[in-house]
Amino acid sequence: MRSFEKDSSCWFTCNKAFEKMNVLRGLFTKSWSSDIQLDGKTAIVTGANSGIGKETAKDLAKRGARVILACRDMEKAEQAASDISRDVENAIVVVRKLDLADTKSICDFAELIYNTEKSLHLLINNAGVAICPYSTTADGFETQFGVNHLGHFFLTFLLMDLLKHSAPSRVINVSSLVHPMGKIHFEDLNSEKSYHPVKAYVQSKLANILFTRELASRVEEMGVSVYAVDPGLVKTEIIRHLKKPLQFFVKTFGFLIKTSAEGAYTTLYCAVTPDLPTGTYYSNCAMAPCSRAANDDNTASRLWAVSCHLLGIRWK
Ligand SMILES: NC(=O)c1ccc[n+]([C@@H]2O[C@H](COP(=O)([O-])OP(=O)(O)OC[C@H]3O[C@@H](n4cnc5c(N)ncnc54)[C@H](OP(=O)(O)O)[C@@H]3O)[C@@H](O)[C@H]2O)c1
Repeated sequence: MRSFEKDSSCWFTCNKAFEKMNVLRGLFTKSWSSDIQLDGKTAIVTGANSGIGKETAKDLAKRGARVILACRDMEKAEQAASDISRDVENAIVVVRKLDLADTKSICDFAELIYNTEKSLHLLINNAGVAICPYSTTADGFETQFGVNHLGHFFLTFLLMDLLKHSAPSRVINVSSLVHPMGKIHFEDLNSEKSYHPVKAYVQSKLANILFTRELASRVEEMGVSVYAVDPGLVKTEIIRHLKKPLQFFVKTFGFLIKTSAEGAYTTLYCAVTPDLPTGTYYSNCAMAPCSRAANDDNTASRLWAVSCHLLGIRWK
């Protein structure tokens, strides 16, 4: 009897604690669903072999879209495609090689897309590398700035004709809630003078929003809409470069933050919701304010010009 009382009070305490956790989770996670179908539409999702990108691709496939998984690791990409095909009846999923840390790979990818696809309605710039030790891309850019910003900037530039041709179409740039910590260090964009992994990551996520604003103003009349998204705090492999104790902390309290499927909601909201104003920023499936730096038109146009210069492209 005594032990039963002990057990039941323990059960009660656990249950209460669980309820509180769910309330806490609810503060950060808004549930979302939509029955909008995407039959006949084509979508590219970068970094679709894991985490938020994989869940985004799966949901788009469920809606009937032809989904191109644009990934650098072909083995993981094939695995993701077969997972999606197993879970989604009649899924149309294609795997294509894309390494955003190499402009040659980005060119090859875009060429293949033009040779194999008639249209492109959704470009989801989701791939990202976070808080990694210093390294450079094949073209000598600091990796986080090079992959998260320049790689997607170049990819979007190359695919823009197809997006225009397929209008109405959308570009979605996955940024982050940490962007307000960011500053664009024009004097040292590639962290050659000094490198801090967090500083470089938050710069790249701020750059995602500035790119969104500038691109939106340039392509609105051509029927291409552009959105920036904060997926929230999501339990994914993005923490792979964090120090072990921090990884342990995130994994231990991972049940408090979003699952990858929940992390994909805001991207999907921007992909399917009709009539969203272009050039805007979304968090928890709603338009949200972004930092003052992210709203700075001068910084946005300067970053655009510098990005074109670094990539050796003319993008009017
Ligand atoms: N998780 C969060 O809490 C959180 C919060 C805010 C924003 N975000 C953003 O959400 C996006 C998705 O991240 P995630 O959390 O889902 O992490 P993830 O599971 O680590 O996914 C990142 C994806 O990006 C790919 N990637 C990295 N470098 C690449 C490159 N050079 N070329 C092509 N693909 C590359 C990875 O491929 P490999 O498997 O080959 O490495 C992976 O598929 C990122 O932009 C991230 O900044 C995440």
